[in-house]
Amino acid sequence: MKAVTMSGFGGPDVLEMGTAPNPHVGDTDLLVRVHATALNRADLLQRRGLYPPPPGASDILGLEMAGEVVQVGAQCEGWSVGDRVCALLPGGGYAEYAAVPAGMAIRLPNNLSYEQGAAIPEVFLTAYLNLFWLGGLTAGKNVLVHAGASGVGTAAIQLIRAAGATSYITAGSREKIERCLELGAKAGWYYKEGPFAPWVKEQTNNEGVDIVLDFVGAPYFEQNLEVLRTDGRLIVIGTMAGTKVANLDLGYLLRNRLQIIGTALRSRSVEDKIRLTQEFVAFAMPHIEKGTIAPVIDSVFDWAEASKAHAYMESNANIGKIVLRVS
Ligand SMILES: NC(=O)c1ccc[n+]([C@@H]2O[C@H](COP(=O)([O-])OP(=O)(O)OC[C@H]3O[C@@H](n4cnc5c(N)ncnc54)[C@H](OP(=O)(O)O)[C@@H]3O)[C@@H](O)[C@H]2O)c1
Repeated sequence: MKAVTMSGFGGPDVLEMGTAPNPHVGDTDLLVRVHATALNRADLLQRRGLYPPPPGASDILGLEMAGEVVQVGAQCEGWSVGDRVCALLPGGGYAEYAAVPAGMAIRLPNNLSYEQGAAIPEVFLTAYLNLFWLGGLTAGKNVLVHAGASGVGTAAIQLIRAAGATSYITAGSREKIERCLELGAKAGWYYKEGPFAPWVKEQTNNEGVDIVLDFVGAPYFEQNLEVLRTDGRLIVIGTMAGTKVANLDLGYLLRNRLQIIGTALRSRSVEDKIRLTQEFVAFAMPHIEKGTIAPVIDSVFDWAEASKAHAYMESNANIGKIVLRVS
């Protein structure tokens, strides 16, 4: 089959059109003809040789896809050739075909295109996992979402609103903040103007937030703890600006009963991913069908232009997802 392959590890230029063996299709799998896939930050790291795929996963890039079922494993009930689906993958999305356990397939509603479908799995399942399973999100809680206009951020804002909770966001441009407010964030902070902690306290009448979703890492660590209220949870999803923290006062954690939680979706078990997918579908699909939750697409590239799409993501300009059309 055709696939985007790599001539080695390195910059966006290592991506090229090539071929790869067709995926193995087990009895509990669906084989999908991929029509669209989408970029994730993990793809950039994997391309540089800094994030190897988990054991058993394809070494082709791509953590999600949307397409049409072309083969149904013997033990997959309720699925037919021709069904339109999207799904999370442990790798292998930048390819003509992908195999996925049937329990992880999400039926695409008629109001969504394949390109929109490809923009859902990774960021929405990441946001759902971290907000609900790890963050304990319920109606009435407050959440601070860093990089609010990122793929994960735009998904999180919409899930928080749907849960009856409130989000505050930080972002690196006024345009990004505007878009986050349209998606349902209560307020946004342009972080280039200074530290976010005083602003969060002011916004919350000095009470702080219940959950912080952080992708930035070390430079935000102290402020993240400072803005958490008692029993608050800091969820470390990414470390884009650094991993090493100095001056952690463990006494502060005890006094404020804080939790710091590290998270990674890709390495979770298939059973976890099936349960996560099914819970997400039950919660979000009625909203997606009504249009009250929607994938946010920044841009669509043909997959032959994957290197351009990667360079664009590295420029930090996107608001929401960068999609690849697989032709
Ligand atoms: N742990 C997991 O399971 C998991 C799963 C999925 C994604 N992630 C992580 O979640 C994060 C977001 O992913 P995504 O695909 O949604 O990203 P994305 O759409 O590419 O957005 C990333 C945004 O983060 C901000 N940013 C980048 N570098 C930064 C830095 N050094 N300091 C501060 N802000 C920076 C930029 O926005 P501004 O202009 O606003 O700064 C950038 O546009 C990544 O770290 C990714 O690795 C983790």
